[in-house]
Amino acid sequence: MNSAVFQPITPMAPTILQLNDVHVRFPVSNDWLGRPRGYAHALNGIDLQVRAGETLGIVGESGCGKSTLAQLLMGLVPPSSGGLNWANRSGEGSSNVQIVFQDPQSSLDPRLPIWRIITEPLYARGHVSHAQMRDVAARVAAQVGIRPEYLDRFPHQFSGGQRQRIAIARALSSDPDIIVLDEPTSALDISVQAQILNLLAELQSARNLTYILISHNVSVVRHMANRVAVMYLGQIVELGSAAQVLDEPRHPYTRLLLEAVPRLGVPLHDEQVAAPTELPGNRRLPSGCFFRERCNLCTVGCEKPQALLGDEQRCVRCHLQD
Ligand SMILES: Nc1ncnc2c1ncn2[C@@H]1O[C@H](COP(=O)(O)OP(=O)(O)O)[C@@H](O)[C@H]1O
Ligand code: SF4
Ligand SMILES: [Mg+2]
Repeated sequence: MNSAVFQPITPMAPTILQLNDVHVRFPVSNDWLGRPRGYAHALNGIDLQVRAGETLGIVGESGCGKSTLAQLLMGLVPPSSGGLNWANRSGEGSSNVQIVFQDPQSSLDPRLPIWRIITEPLYARGHVSHAQMRDVAARVAAQVGIRPEYLDRFPHQFSGGQRQRIAIARALSSDPDIIVLDEPTSALDISVQAQILNLLAELQSARNLTYILISHNVSVVRHMANRVAVMYLGQIVELGSAAQVLDEPRHPYTRLLLEAVPRLGVPLHDEQVAAPTELPGNRRLPSGCFFRERCNLCTVGCEKPQALLGDEQRCVRCHLQD
């Protein structure tokens, strides 16, 4: 993973998902009538297009809304305002988003043989016979490098890297529109990480998969992503090609985030990335630019709410970058 493999962006690929000014808030406590006393404002106006076959990297420190975005795409949390438009093969509004979690140890049910784990998304959708499920399990297991004769084994009989392959097979089995990769290699041995990333890249080019890659590891994002979105307090503050965002960051927050990261290579843990000053709470959102309290360039004009300036290929939420 030393060489940067910036894949070309594919602006002509069809849009499969469009988010328009999506907000998500969670009630945080109730008064004696059961009414919410306040909200955690997790997503605060997400505008985003996802194109077929791309890898969109999402970076930002803990609490910026990455997991909420993943849950939103999976249909596990509803938008409190704004909308998601799916324009996918399955047609109007319906979608199939699967996820590969960080830790295959906890994400695979230890009581199930792996053929059942792999076909869980099919089972959940119904209308599949036992024989069809076995067939699909054998096919996708082979694609991720798990031998079909192992299908009746249980998760504990596999290594960490193999378990992550099984989790990837599960994500593939129902032919999803989007696969969310949530820190897919950060729980794995260094020696296995590159194999898993290579597998993900191979599967993507063979099947034109669309990935949303959530990662703290800049070298993983650099290696895998076509475009990168930087999130801060539930907003996208910068978006562009991986090369643009990681090598020529324009938003003051992106610069801060990347400064906190050693140059190239070294995998990072959550705590290390938490930038020098604290993320302000999201119970009461700041007025004006959300980054104002932490920004050393703060000046006249920053007291106004900031729009994402630019286009889908490159945009920055800061009036100084105009
Ligand atoms: N179910 C929930 N109930 C209340 N607050 C939540 C819930 N899920 C997330 N949040 C809040 O939303 C914000 C974003 O969280 P999250 O999406 O998990 O961020 P990240 O994945 O980037 O660390 C945080 O302030 C978090 O506390
Ligand atoms: S709008 Fe102002 S406060 Fe916000 S990032 Fe730009 S310079 Fe900093
Ligand atoms: Mg998270």
